[in-house]
Amino acid sequence: MSYEEAFRASVEDPEGFWLAAARGIDWDVEPARGLDRRRAPFYRWFPDGELNVCRNALDRHVDAGRGEQAALVYDSPVTGTRQTFTYEELRDQVAVFAGVLAGLGVGRGDRVVVYMPMVPEAVVAMLACARIGAVHSVVFGGFAANELAVRIDDAEPKVVVAASCGIEGSRVVPYKPLLDRAVELATHRPEACVVLQRPQWEATLGPRDVDWAQAVRTARPAACVSVAATDPLYILYTSGTTGRPKGVVRDSGGYAVALRWSMEAVYDVGPGEVMFTASDVGWVVGHSYIVYGPLLAGATTVLYEGKPVGTPDAGQFWRVVQEHGVKTLFTAPTAFRAIKKVDPKGELARRYDLSGLRYLFLAGERLDPETYHWAGELLGIPVVDHWWQTETGWPIVANPVGIEAAPMKAGSPTLPLPGWDVRVLDAAGAPVPAGVDGAIVVKLPMPPGALPTLWNDDERFLSSYLSTYEGFYLTGDGGHLDEDGYVFVMGRTDDVINVAGHRLSTGGMEEVLASHPDVAECAVIGVADSLKGQVPRGFVVLKAGTAADPAVVEAELVQLVRDRIGAVASLKDVAVVAALPKTRSGKILRRTMRGIADGLDEPVPSTVEDASVVEALRPVLRRE
Ligand code: COA
Ligand code: AMP
Repeated sequence: MSYEEAFRASVEDPEGFWLAAARGIDWDVEPARGLDRRRAPFYRWFPDGELNVCRNALDRHVDAGRGEQAALVYDSPVTGTRQTFTYEELRDQVAVFAGVLAGLGVGRGDRVVVYMPMVPEAVVAMLACARIGAVHSVVFGGFAANELAVRIDDAEPKVVVAASCGIEGSRVVPYKPLLDRAVELATHRPEACVVLQRPQWEATLGPRDVDWAQAVRTARPAACVSVAATDPLYILYTSGTTGRPKGVVRDSGGYAVALRWSMEAVYDVGPGEVMFTASDVGWVVGHSYIVYGPLLAGATTVLYEGKPVGTPDAGQFWRVVQEHGVKTLFTAPTAFRAIKKVDPKGELARRYDLSGLRYLFLAGERLDPETYHWAGELLGIPVVDHWWQTETGWPIVANPVGIEAAPMKAGSPTLPLPGWDVRVLDAAGAPVPAGVDGAIVVKLPMPPGALPTLWNDDERFLSSYLSTYEGFYLTGDGGHLDEDGYVFVMGRTDDVINVAGHRLSTGGMEEVLASHPDVAECAVIGVADSLKGQVPRGFVVLKAGTAADPAVVEAELVQLVRDRIGAVASLKDVAVVAALPKTRSGKILRRTMRGIADGLDEPVPSTVEDASVVEALRPVLRRE
């Protein structure tokens, strides 16, 4: 099938298209029906199918005689470890850990929060949940105790699985004290916390804690439990417009079908081939293309614990590619900008044999043309920008190289993939002409793998995504289509920002700043950054009559955001100012502030209440 044919088939007959793709999965009960539309806009894929996702990711390949093949390669320059797990070994470890969870009373539908760095046990924990029909919720290690507590209260896990520590470059970050603090802060009490003790920093265990190593010594392996295709596989929290994260729900059957299909159609990775996704299991990219996608395809996945630079050098990605025979590399543009900054001529890349590398995929933030060209010239392979979100689970727009490569256009992630009927609408809901920016939306129903709802919050699912334009999913990104149907994603239309490929809410940071006793009002904006894409900057007005020293408050606010949200928020710059620019109706002009900070020739809107406030702020915004 050509790309054109595949795309047309997927929108004209989605049921037929995805039922055919569903043959790539081993079902316990084969689905006879594609899409259940009865509760639209709550669509459900494969309503009568039953399966186990862990069985499809592991046992299936062992049963097919490929147990000796490498499933997972753990490459950790920060600990000096390299370890390969065959499909058989990984299956056995997962089955035993599933036995540990079952022994702690975890069963089908129960939630398990996973708070771990990039260690194989994180993958084992996720797959063990899938094996017994439990729902995992992985929380990224860079989040602070408070963020973990919020997620524990929302997901109400029976068990939390954590590691004693993570390693950030040369710094050891104890995780267990953060977990203890989170459990203290949370209202919900997990029954047990399983702790993986790492030699770099061992935690003191309390009465609720279970030592991972001891528990697996005595546990009996657990078998795969058949679940409904519509049962949740995981919850993954992501930033929205407030400090309250959104619990994106992922179903089991639709996700498995979509990922399995995408591995060949998008990433061109098949059984026995090696995919290296340099992200983190705490993000959707990690869920889909470190863990589930490559394993569902019977490929080998590389789990890399380290940074693109500094652990110890900017040649580590190239070393991994050579050492493990990587065919497809996937990371965020920021990682390439980091490498380029240290090694602008790409001298380190030339020290390694990269002849097996066929594709570089980039996502998570806008790919700037300079990085696109630099990477392409350095590697001499297709650099595939592709656009997607936690909510969608897999790419919406990409160059479908596994089906039929399309000509590239710098600045565009190329074409909508089969299943994604992408449109651009104006504020009134009318389609805009080619080249004109508007809201990027997807016509319902979305393909399998996309979120069916938010955890315990159907209302918020509707109000966040489906109520702005009836019959369409609101992506939250703005941009346009060109006359060839290429999609150009220009940036978020809400207050989400992307910092080093990490999705963060400026609204959430504002809530933290506003909680300081000396702060009267505040604004956080995302400004352009040559390494991280965007970084947040905070501006606060102090309460009248306060005696506080502005410099002290600024430092306290930076620390407050680090303590409440986490180091990953990267808010390093907060300025006390006399006033914030507003419209006559009292809305802070964040867009104007952002434009000025980015050095654009930003017009001051006619609705401004007091133009002199903008002028007074201009030098601060421009750091003059
Ligand atoms: N656990 C604990 N702390 C973490 C963490 C984790 N898993 N991940 C990040 N942090 C900390 C960092 O140590 C840093 O702390 P600091 O302010 O004390 O230095 C802070 O959070 C900000 O992290 P980050 O924005 O990642 O900055 P960095 O300087 O450490 O690294 C890059 C910059 C570009 C090298 C890095 O972000 C990177 O490799 N990005 C790749 C993109 C990626 O993985 N994207 C995910 C989606 S695809
Ligand atoms: P996340 O949910 O963390 O994956 O972040 C999703 C958001 O990242 C999207 O809504 C976009 O704003 C941004 N994003 C992801 N990929 C791209 C891309 N290829 N081009 C532009 N923006 C992107």
